[in-house]
Amino acid sequence: MSEKLEREIRVIDEAAEAISSTLPRAEMAIVLGSGLGAFGERLENAQSLAYADIPYFPPPTIPGHSGRLIYGRINGRRIYAFSGRFHYYEGHDPRTVILPVRVLHKLGCDKLILTNAAGGVNPAFIPGDLMLIRDHINFTGYNPLRGENSAEWGPRFPDMTRIYTPELRQLAKEAAAELAITLQEGVYCGLSGPTFETPAEIRMLGLLGADAVGMSTVPEAIAAAQAGINILALSCITNLAAGISKQPLSHEEVMETGRLVEERFTNLIETIIQRI
Ligand code: HPA
Repeated sequence: MSEKLEREIRVIDEAAEAISSTLPRAEMAIVLGSGLGAFGERLENAQSLAYADIPYFPPPTIPGHSGRLIYGRINGRRIYAFSGRFHYYEGHDPRTVILPVRVLHKLGCDKLILTNAAGGVNPAFIPGDLMLIRDHINFTGYNPLRGENSAEWGPRFPDMTRIYTPELRQLAKEAAAELAITLQEGVYCGLSGPTFETPAEIRMLGLLGADAVGMSTVPEAIAAAQAGINILALSCITNLAAGISKQPLSHEEVMETGRLVEERFTNLIETIIQRI
């Protein structure tokens, strides 16, 4: 084994060790996207660990991402909520972006809910819509699995056919129906950011089959799928994408819509967790 691979394995082990020696073991995890951090407040008997106290977890640089791992319960289910994620556009290398996922795998977590804020490409979508991710297009320009592979992380050439677990998607649809929440379903296209897209890029992505665009989720989903983790992913359509929207795009709009939708979004996630 190369020194580089040994170091990578050690990084994951040490981060996992810091978590397992401080927080109870959870059976599933959720990554909270921009402006969706309030979910952490729904957790009962919550305890948390600052990213600063997890080795190799960098501090978040984006408003709306708090930088804590929260442990708590919902209806008896034991959950880790990552309030804050690492994006490629922040300058992190791809292995840092997927570090929380590999740590979860190390900790034995086999279910992961990924959430994000996204721009709506599908003309039928309106800001505030929630979208279940059925599939993705990796347009980030990189693959986080590039480089040496450890068998611990999963196969060298992972299958992506059922990346977003069909059974969990079905359950999310049932939860939405129970709550009378409209739940769109579609293809999420992941880009590197940090620019929003141009109108020409959005027209192209629409032709290629994207329903929503965003700057996260795809690398984490790839790493989770490699590890055999069951994935459910949900986007909050915070804005219409460039050229569809008549207004200039801004992070403030993303955060504002996130806040307006937060209660509906967290209700849906809570109901999904109860059904898992
Ligand atoms: N584009 C990319 N990422 C985003 C958007 C968008 O329009 N909205 C929220 N995240």
